[in-house]
Amino acid sequence: MSIEIRKIEKKDRKAFVELSLALTKFNKKQHDKHYKNFQEILEVRKQRVEERFDKIDKSSHLAIFMAFIDNKPIGYIRAFTYDNKLHCGCLDELYLTSEARGQGVGKKLLNAVTHWMTEKKVVRMTTSVYSWNASAKEFYEEKGFLEYAVSYEKTL
Ligand SMILES: CC(C)(COP(=O)(O)OP(=O)(O)OC[C@H]1O[C@@H](n2cnc3c(N)ncnc32)[C@H](O)[C@@H]1OP(=O)(O)O)[C@@H](O)C(=O)NCCC(=O)NCCS
Repeated sequence: MSIEIRKIEKKDRKAFVELSLALTKFNKKQHDKHYKNFQEILEVRKQRVEERFDKIDKSSHLAIFMAFIDNKPIGYIRAFTYDNKLHCGCLDELYLTSEARGQGVGKKLLNAVTHWMTEKKVVRMTTSVYSWNASAKEFYEEKGFLEYAVSYEKTL
């Protein structure tokens, strides 16, 4: 089995869109609380992901790394820097297909983003995890992240 982690390229468009939508589906129970039509969520998200992909070359503040097992795209991580004076970075999205989990690929993606943030002189890296996602919480805590805030929401 060969694992490859590399920066996203133009040829990854289809795979990136599919994996981004797979993350949305993974988080479906979060959206179901607020919206009745999940299909509409997927369509909006698809449009945003495509727009986002088309800007990947234009911002040095943004990084997306793709993960491949035996040349098959199985995951990605997306991060950005957001305060050049306070040197902050945000790990925005991380997703692996269910078959690819538990084999160290998430760790490799996180390492790639951490290295990229270090090059960008980031001193504080943040991320968010839904409260129900115990696995992701354990993954981040295992990698040295500490809980620092709690978010609240209310359906109107
Ligand atoms: C969370 C996720 C990215 C982790 O990636 P992964 O490839 O499965 O994790 P790895 O195999 O790289 O594990 C890395 C380390 O975290 C630990 N870990 C991973 N999942 C864990 C879990 N559920 N419970 C406890 N520890 C866990 C591993 O033991 C491993 O420790 P080690 O470095 O000492 O060997 C992946 O499971 C995933 O994509 N989940 C669905 C989407 C998601 O939840 N995304 C994150 C929130 S947006």
